[in-house]
Amino acid sequence: MKSLFIAGNWKSNKTAHEAIEWVSLFHREFAGKQFPTGLTAVICAPFTALASLNDALKNTKLPLGLGAQDVSAYDDGAYTGEVSARQVGEFAQWVIIGHSERRHHQRETDDELAQKVGKAKAADLHVIYCVPDAQTVVPAGVDVVAYEPVWAIGTGKADTPDNANGVCGQIQASTHAPLVIYGGSVTDQNVVSFVSMPHIDGVLPGAASLDARTFFRLLMVAGQVIS
Ligand code: PGA
Repeated sequence: MKSLFIAGNWKSNKTAHEAIEWVSLFHREFAGKQFPTGLTAVICAPFTALASLNDALKNTKLPLGLGAQDVSAYDDGAYTGEVSARQVGEFAQWVIIGHSERRHHQRETDDELAQKVGKAKAADLHVIYCVPDAQTVVPAGVDVVAYEPVWAIGTGKADTPDNANGVCGQIQASTHAPLVIYGGSVTDQNVVSFVSMPHIDGVLPGAASLDARTFFRLLMVAGQVIS
């Protein structure tokens, strides 16, 4: 049976307080419902919300993993403003590395990103590594590769499921990553068309993860594909 991996990327949204409200809402939606077997769901939140989210997820026992959206390329030490993998690992199990917004705004290079992957793995974090195409180098040790075409991110213009399936298939063939997922304008309306594809192991929704009800609905409809 196919398993599915879905990670919500909150980007630079939500205070710690708002994150807790999101968990309460999600918890209310979830009450009494059966979570799809074979579905791994993760929320990738800002650093500032990780500690309280970790507490809230433990208290509510929700079946959601927790991730950061970046990690330092350095260890603990004299790196002002950086958050090390060891610090992330105190609260989260996952980390997104190489998101196109960071490649663009922070000018992150492939070399720096490979260094970040090394630090994340040394701290036992699972890595979701974003690439804009099948040609971009994927460092060893990555757990999930997310194919995210830049033009589809936050535009409401998702890639076609056929094309995304083709690119994810190429990435599967050229890397050792256990899972390859698609991201870019995924919604609760179009998620099934992506996760039904043979080479797409899941999705990375940004905007559609911000509202707890929408994200819950997205998980449930996607889960029907594997149930
Ligand atoms: P989007 O973002 O779903 O809002 O397009 C996806 C992402 O950037 O990971």
